[in-house]
Amino acid sequence: MSEQVTLTQFIIEQQRGLPDASGTFTLLLNNLVTACKQISHRVNRGALIGVLGSAETENVQGEVQKKLDIITHEIMVKALDWSGHVGGMASEEIDDPIQIPKQYPKGKYLVLFDPLDGSSNIDINLTVGTIFSILRGREGVAPETEDFLRKGNEQVCAGFVLYGPSTMLVLTTGNGVNGFTLDQDIGEFILTHCNMKIPEDNTEFAINMSNQRFWEAPVKQYIDECVAGEDGPRGKNFNMRWVASLVADVYRILNRGGVFLYPYDLRDPSRPGKLRLMYEANPMAFIIEQAGGVCTTGRESILDIKPKNIHQRVPFIFGSKNEVERVISYHRQHDSAGN
Ligand code: F6P
Ligand code: MN
Repeated sequence: MSEQVTLTQFIIEQQRGLPDASGTFTLLLNNLVTACKQISHRVNRGALIGVLGSAETENVQGEVQKKLDIITHEIMVKALDWSGHVGGMASEEIDDPIQIPKQYPKGKYLVLFDPLDGSSNIDINLTVGTIFSILRGREGVAPETEDFLRKGNEQVCAGFVLYGPSTMLVLTTGNGVNGFTLDQDIGEFILTHCNMKIPEDNTEFAINMSNQRFWEAPVKQYIDECVAGEDGPRGKNFNMRWVASLVADVYRILNRGGVFLYPYDLRDPSRPGKLRLMYEANPMAFIIEQAGGVCTTGRESILDIKPKNIHQRVPFIFGSKNEVERVISYHRQHDSAGN
């Protein structure tokens, strides 16, 4: 039998190389992963345990919550608040940062998460996931909202767990991207996808075409050229995929490349995009860039954005280097023509 590397072994071996590693981070990650195994179990049991359907409440984003949005949020909080490694948390589902209960010590890490990404797909049994982002905080200090508002390139770790045909964890600590598959028989994540790299070119795009009439000219131009295929300026045919679960679209692009666009659109000036900077764009951008891809709003690198608000939305365009750079160049040409 070939030797299998568990997630814990992998992390401990990576941390060994770092001079100031105390093992705290490994313990934090273990707790996080335990939460994701619990979520995987609930998602997998679905209708058998009555967790599907709407909770008939709205979250801070004004979106109707699924029962599983609430359950998974609570699983994440309960797995992390007692540990002593976490100073505070922020969840896509809750207005304000979550403080650590008084009886527990406040640790040095801040954890931000989208507990169930793609939850609109849960009732039709499509892939959903959990996304998380870890920042360094101040040990022993209860964080203010301001403490979470840090640029994406300050993240120390980002990951997501995909609840699909297999449950998979994709992780970066700033030293490449690795994928782990949950072996349900032994309850361990096993390293299965080493050093994932996004191909620099690919002819697949992902966008919600129903928003076409609201896009800006550079995005219209890029998509029009893809759709024109061999007959257009690109001289080749493109394919389209849209799962409507960010986790699944990111995972596809990590494996075979392509470009994803949830661009700025002109529907509502107060909402510059749909996806959330702190819970979705930042962690995914850290992963994508570590795998050799590029992430942008069209005009600015995602990881350079100074957040103003913990629930801020941003335009999010990412994927294969050469395609994303083309989209950026269309924005640049458009803006420098004085439009
Ligand atoms: O969390 C938001 C989200 O569900 C993402 O997972 C996904 O990429 C996107 O929204 C889908 O958007 P739409 O509903 O416009 O297709
Ligand atoms: Mn989401």
